[in-house]
Parts: sequence; structure tokens; C-alpha cells
Amino acid sequence: MQILFDTDCLIQALENLVNSAVLNLCRQERCKGWLVSTAVPAILARAGARKGEVQSLLRSLAVLTPTAHDIHLALESEEPFEKALVARLVEVSGLDAVVTLSPERFSGLPVNALTPGQLQEKLDAPPPPVKEVRLLDITASYHQVLNEVEKETAETIRSGQFILGPKVSRMEERMASYCQAKYAVGVSSGTDALLIALMALGIGPGDEVITTPYTFFATAGSIIRTGAKPVFVDINDITFNIKPEHIERCITPKTKAIIPVHLYGQCSDMDIILQLAEKNGLRVIEDSAQAIGSEYKGRSAGSMGDMGCFSFFPTKNLGGFGDGGLVTTNSEELYKQLKILRVHGSEPKYYHKILGGNFRLDALQADVVSAKLNFLENWTERRRQNAQNYNQLFKDSAMTPFVQLPPEVFPRHIYNQYVLRVGNRRDELRAFLNESRIGCEIYYPIPLHLQECFKSLGYQSGDFPESEKAAKQTLALPISHEVDRRQQEYVVETVHQFFLGE
Ligand SMILES: Cc1ncc(COP(=O)(O)O)c(C=O)c1O
Repeated sequence: MQILFDTDCLIQALENLVNSAVLNLCRQERCKGWLVSTAVPAILARAGARKGEVQSLLRSLAVLTPTAHDIHLALESEEPFEKALVARLVEVSGLDAVVTLSPERFSGLPVNALTPGQLQEKLDAPPPPVKEVRLLDITASYHQVLNEVEKETAETIRSGQFILGPKVSRMEERMASYCQAKYAVGVSSGTDALLIALMALGIGPGDEVITTPYTFFATAGSIIRTGAKPVFVDINDITFNIKPEHIERCITPKTKAIIPVHLYGQCSDMDIILQLAEKNGLRVIEDSAQAIGSEYKGRSAGSMGDMGCFSFFPTKNLGGFGDGGLVTTNSEELYKQLKILRVHGSEPKYYHKILGGNFRLDALQADVVSAKLNFLENWTERRRQNAQNYNQLFKDSAMTPFVQLPPEVFPRHIYNQYVLRVGNRRDELRAFLNESRIGCEIYYPIPLHLQECFKSLGYQSGDFPESEKAAKQTLALPISHEVDRRQQEYVVETVHQFFLGE
């Protein structure tokens, strides 16, 4: 539950910092507490010289800063300013209630007003049955990250340095270290990370690049955009990643690189791929867009091949507030090349030695990524715990004859997606879950070799049976760090009901 403290309730909490029941509920994470920044002068006036106590109060809560527009609307309202502002912020921020000593002040406004006692009662009462589980609720993490994001983005807005610059460099250094790579280069998207990585290797017309057909479009799309040809290799039916044993037979004199995709957050079998690449003089680009923090035999995704490509698309485990991406590498030479290619191939500015593109990353996206990076390990562990919970719940409810669980073949899986294989009633199950307000998704319904725009590659239905089967049989369930145990139970009960009707 997300609650906004009314000023009277804040003052009460300040007077009783240690024993405040509402504050303690927030500290115990039984609810998420917010205060409006405009209330700070009022509580400071009350605190007098005890500024430290106000700071202590603020540390247990997150600060909601109204926009100038919110303030104008509250001023225009017939209601008193503070009350109108609180009601608006609760509504537009999707909070559940305002906690106040005098709920009658909010009568007539479309806002749920609770006394501290009523809040406590609500939280102590048996929770209402779960009726909805979203596949992903990005705003649910705002309580944790918003103030840190605001700090970073405000610095950038005040500095006026919006493209690349020191904020991007700082994020790159932190990301390189997180990914166990020497260098990282922030770019405009995960798609552009793949494209610029291919360009840095000089891949182009006449070249072939081996990859999987069971991935997001960008993996093969970027190969074609360089003028090279993607050569597909089928997937392993357990991990959904490229089958390394099938790669060698596809290597020709034109082959220049392999792009394994660490799909859903689990690494491909990199030892075999790296050996094959070495034996045949090929380069390796890890498509790690879904695999930030994933590991293979103790090595991080993005640190094993020549380059690793990451995406900051908002649904990723480390997502920005828009598009963004990153390339990691241990090669100084590639690092320098990537930095030049990112700015239209110019070095120094306006002197273009090679053809690059606009692959620059916005500082504002780097700010969001930097702020969220502080929480990533904790979120990843929660996803992993959620995956274990699902596995146990499906086993306990005797569902394993109906659903194939996603095994962790190469720890550590970071579960960007938790994907079940559910046989040929997948579409029916998806509709059933949607009717029960459970978000679920198919990644991906059509393998790339059967996409209309790749017709000229000459592939046909039946060429990659495992990819085609996976495209018909798999379904991703809600797994994000915000999904709780009760929601998972509801998901598993609903799947049970679908297959066994109970
Ligand atoms: C495997 C894979 N590769 C590449 C991308 C492209 O990333 P972006 O959407 O940031 O361009 C994605 C994004 O979904 C992806 O999942």
C-alpha cells in the first residue's frame, strides 16, 4: 500500500520519531510512505532547531515533489490549497490513501483518507484476495528510486549537458565494473549497441553472422542493416539458447562472427562458442540485452566475447525512462573504435575518418540507469527468489506434467523473463490468465527465419523445429521484483484451474 502523509500526521510522527506507529509501518515496509515537499517548511517550523529529526523523518519516507502545474491546479481549486494539492498528488501518482489526523478534511474529494489507526487496522486485517497480477509495474519501484533519479536528473538539467558528457562517462565506468569488463560505451538503444558492435568489427556486405532465430528482432535486424547476412542456428529445447553443437556446420569462409543471445536472462553455453570462434577466427558479440548481471561459470554476461550488448529499454531488469543501451568490451582498440563510431565516426569533432552514426546516449537516461544500478542486485535476488517460488509452487500443485519449468542450467540466471513451456494449449492458457487479470506474454510468437521481411534469406517452415515449437508453446509469467508470494500463488492456482478445473 502506498500512502501520503498529511502535514498533521507528519508533525505527529516528528514529535514521536521512534514510536510513531505509522512511521514504523513504513520502516517495516508494510506500506510505502510519501510526503509532499511543500510540507517540509511546516514541519521544520515545528521542529525548531531539531533539523536532524526532520532529516531522520525524511529518511523513512520518499519525497513527492509537485510540479508547477500541480500547484497551479491546486491554487485554482475551490478547496483549500494544501488539501487540493494532496488530493491531486494522491490521484496522479496512483497512491492508495492519504493518512491524516482529520479525515473529514478530505470529505467531498475523490481521495481515500485514513487515520493512522484505520491504516493500522487495514494492514493488520487479512489481505483481500489477489485479483490482478501485472506482467510488469514499472511505477511500483518509484518509491525506492524516484528521489535518487530526481537528484541525478536535476543535476543534469541544471548543467545543460544533455548528450554524453560526465554523467554518461560515470555510468559507463560503473557499468563496466558491474559487468566485469574493462570498458563500456553508452549508446542510444540495445539495437544500436548491436549495430555499432558489428560496425566496430567492420562487418558488412558479403559477410555472414551466425545467430539464433528465437530472439527479439533486433539481433538479426542489425546484422542485415550492416549489409551482412544472418545465418540461423536452432536452439536448445531446455535453455532456448543457440545450440552450440549446430554452429560448426554453418561456418563458411564468409562467416565473420557469432552472436549468441542470452535469452530471458540465462547465458548461452559460452565455452563451446568461444572455442569454436577461436578455432575458426571468428568474433563473438554477446547479445546480453536481457541478461544484465547474468553469469556463466563465474564470468559476467558481456565480459566473455569481444563485445557485450545491453539494453536499457524500460522493461529490462535495469531499464531507463526511455531508450538506451551499452556496449562492453575488454579490448582497448574496440573501445576507441566504438567511441568514434558513436559520434558519426568523427575524431576529432567534425573530422570524419569512418562512417559512423548518431548512437549517442542521453545523459538523462544515464542518470536513471546510475540511480537504479544501486538497487539492481537486490532486485535480481528477488527475481531469483520469485523463480524458485514458482518452481516450488508448480511442483507442489502437481503441475509439472502440464508445464515445463525453466531450469537454471548456467547459474546465474537473472530471470528477465520466467518462461514456461506449456504445450499446444498455450494460447488458450494465455486467454484464461488474461481473463483472470494476470499479465503474461509470448516471447516470441514467430521465429525470425519465418518473418516476412526475412523472406529473401530463403528459410522455410520446418528449418528450425525447436525454435518453431518454442514459439508455439512458451508463455512468460510475471516475475519482476515487485511480484509477491501471494500473487505468485494466485498465478499458479489459476494455471492449475486451467489444466485441472479446480
Ligand atoms: C535479445 C534482445 N536483443 C536486442 C534488443 C534490443 O534492445 P532495444 O529495445 O533497447 O533496442 C532487445 C530488446 O528487447 C532484446 O531483447
